[in-house]
Amino acid sequence: MQNIQSLEHYVEAYRKSIENPEAFWEEVASDLVWKEKWKRVTEWNFDPYSCAWFIGGKINITENCLDRHIAARGDHTALLFESNNPDDEVRRLTYRELYVQVCRFANVLKRNGVRKGDRVCLYMPMVPELAIATLACARIGAVHSVVFAGFSATAIADRINDSDCSFVITADALSRGAKQIPLKAVVDEALMQCPGVHRVIVYKHLGWDVVINNRRDVWWHDELQMVDSDCPAEPMDSEDILFILYTSGSTGKPKGVVHTCGGYATYVNYSFKNVFQIAPDDVYWCTADIGWVTGHSYLLYGPLMSGITSVMFEGIPTWPDAGRFWSVIDKHHVSVFYTAPTAIRSLMAMGLDYVLPYNLHSLRVLGSVGEPINEEAWHWYSIHIGKNRCPIVDTWWQTETGGIMISSLAGITPSKPAHAGFPLPGIQPVLLDQDGKIIEGNDKEGYLAIRYPWPSMIRTTFGDHERCRQTYFSTYRGYYFTGDGARRDENGLYRLIGRVDDVINVSGHRFGTAEIENAINQHKQIIESAVVGYPHDIKGQGIYAYVICDTQPDNPDRMREEIFETVNSEIGRIAKPDKIQFVSGLPKTRSGKIIRRILRKVAEGEVSNLGDTTTLLDPLIVEEIIRGRLV
Ligand code: WTA
Repeated sequence: MQNIQSLEHYVEAYRKSIENPEAFWEEVASDLVWKEKWKRVTEWNFDPYSCAWFIGGKINITENCLDRHIAARGDHTALLFESNNPDDEVRRLTYRELYVQVCRFANVLKRNGVRKGDRVCLYMPMVPELAIATLACARIGAVHSVVFAGFSATAIADRINDSDCSFVITADALSRGAKQIPLKAVVDEALMQCPGVHRVIVYKHLGWDVVINNRRDVWWHDELQMVDSDCPAEPMDSEDILFILYTSGSTGKPKGVVHTCGGYATYVNYSFKNVFQIAPDDVYWCTADIGWVTGHSYLLYGPLMSGITSVMFEGIPTWPDAGRFWSVIDKHHVSVFYTAPTAIRSLMAMGLDYVLPYNLHSLRVLGSVGEPINEEAWHWYSIHIGKNRCPIVDTWWQTETGGIMISSLAGITPSKPAHAGFPLPGIQPVLLDQDGKIIEGNDKEGYLAIRYPWPSMIRTTFGDHERCRQTYFSTYRGYYFTGDGARRDENGLYRLIGRVDDVINVSGHRFGTAEIENAINQHKQIIESAVVGYPHDIKGQGIYAYVICDTQPDNPDRMREEIFETVNSEIGRIAKPDKIQFVSGLPKTRSGKIIRRILRKVAEGEVSNLGDTTTLLDPLIVEEIIRGRLV
């Protein structure tokens, strides 16, 4: 399909996509190289849920990322690596070089017994080898499950066991800002609980001494000596699994979101080009880690399918100082920059002295993702980074959607502060009321759902299809429910308001409140806990935990430290509670259900209007909680 180049073109494409979705998506899919064309475009049902796209088609996403660019753009830079330390040499891999490295590493995987369909867990630093390993899995049809290198050993073990991975790829250690984190040691600890893993491939990154288990572990560099670089792309059925990515929901443990080959490739390629209005010479930088869906879709696969240069950054925005992002944009002449509101807010707070020294003239488009961007941050981004000449795309989507669903198309469709905008052609959002009835018209607010499938939608939650059905298709029958609330303004632009379920979004990272409670409750002295989100200036939401101990702690600060350690070992540092209040009870109904509404209000500091508390099991507890509130 031709890229959308004007507002009229958008309106026309949207109309066509609704009138004849199958014809629309066929045209979109034809942009890619298929090994065999599909026989049917889609078959789907939302009640009970099942969905398939480009049925009977064969494709390999790496052929679309690599092989097809070699002839015309083999010498063009595919990955541009900026290391954590600004003084380190920049690494550039052309499309040809990346192709060779992916094929070689794919042969390493084969040599080590990885077969099509096997699950491979990647726990790696943000270095080109993570991209290479991910693509190498896709090359041979192994299913990658990338786990962000900030999760704990327990969290890794849970993910490995849930998807029955037999292989792990990791590194000795990583650098993130001033910190260094052991990776291999964390994997070793995790694998004590994972009897199914029989091979670990270790990339030597920082040159740390690590324990090598001779029966299980091999070095990346040794293995490369044993293979050649000839590795044809495995023909994958359109509906074969491409990857699993774990994400948190409102209940239980994180679930493995499953994406499949044909539909995911089609939608990511289409959304990437259109939202960012990509041009062949763009130097594009997405600051997300490949451990999150944004890194999968819009650092790795989207840019490579487009044949452009994708910048990969190992570090953090504030090290060595708060000018790092802007210095990297200057250094590499970045033209499209895609980051998270939390980063923008934290850099905004540091002041313009960190921005002004740098030349940001190369910038053409700015993007935001992961959480609502408040107006103040939007304006700061637009004025001080975009110098009032770069459109901002505020992209709303989810791990489950695979790609951007609601966003302006840069410079083409209207962009308004704090609003994601119109849906992409092919995407049919609706606002629902409490009873699941569609709210028509503009200037309305409701629960955001999608009424028609799109190619990159979640297929299942790995190993538990019923959980997928329950989570996304049971709240409102006949719809995919996003878990988000939204408002449609007077012109039909969508504004995302936040989660309406028990999911909190901390610095763009998703956690279930139950997940954090379960972690806290692992501490021996803790009887019960309740976690809620509250507005946080930098992180978007902070984590507020109400905790009941077996006896009131004599040293609350020490107890807090112990709780941090417990959460750290169950999930990882990223889930550290911002506030922990010790309480003697929780507000519950007579049937024992915690009334989170009250806890949320107290955490937000809105204590004057808590609603009716007389039906509580113990109304006095609310007084105690208010008195002990942490500000
Ligand atoms: C939130 C990240 C407002 C939303 C790609 C969603 C957003 C959750 C935006 C998914 C945005 C993401 N504006 N909210 N532009 N983008 N969200 O799975 O609540 O990590 O449901 O995917 O982030 O988070 P996830």
